[in-house]
Amino acid sequence: MAVYKQNKEKMMSQPFQIVVLFSGNGSNLQALINEQMNFGYCIAGVISNRADAYGLTRASEANINNYVVPHQKYANRDMFDDALIKTIDHLQADLVVMAGFMRILTAKFTCHYEGKLINIHPSLLPAWKGLDTYRRVLASGEKRHGTTVHFVTEELDSGGIIAQASTQITDSDDEFSLKKRVQQMEHRLFPMTVKWFAEKRLKQENGVIWLDGKKLPLSGCHYTYHSLVT
Ligand code: GRF
Repeated sequence: MAVYKQNKEKMMSQPFQIVVLFSGNGSNLQALINEQMNFGYCIAGVISNRADAYGLTRASEANINNYVVPHQKYANRDMFDDALIKTIDHLQADLVVMAGFMRILTAKFTCHYEGKLINIHPSLLPAWKGLDTYRRVLASGEKRHGTTVHFVTEELDSGGIIAQASTQITDSDDEFSLKKRVQQMEHRLFPMTVKWFAEKRLKQENGVIWLDGKKLPLSGCHYTYHSLVT
């Protein structure tokens, strides 16, 4: 209890700063905004590659600095990533959080933020990398689906796994109902993992992820729908 109080006081004097990147609705951004006071981190700014992303409205309503770096304005990926790096570094973030950011990043970008760049992907990685995970998992007849928070590397959806949450797929599920449950889990899981960083409980060293001084298994920490949402 005393250690927790000390940590909390330290966090309040020098809050852990994150930058959130997104391209669309931003429901995960909203979950991160909602928990920032309780979880010891502070959103220094948000960046979207799309000017019409609803997440920008969410950020404005929470009085958070928001920036648009429109990918169409840049001749190639390198130039877009350079502009993104410049904007992020200006915000001096401790952690860069990708919450539905729909751009493939260059190795230069992922190396620049090695160990400080995380993403949330709607599948139980390594299964169902890429897009359309709900449609594909339902078509496959598999019985479980979920979400993964992971470090980002040059290879798409392939960095070290920090945490996963899963739910059973029922016969009555369609893409809409499954996505709804997965996103409910995401809204709990993602802020929680950022909190672990803010509390200095989580780190990655030579490809191994440590939480509270213990090595995580390759599939990260695992949660179920019931343990997170109900
Ligand atoms: C999330 O479900 C996440 O898994 C994926 O993109 C989605 C973004 O949703 N990477 P939102 O914009 O946070 O509502």
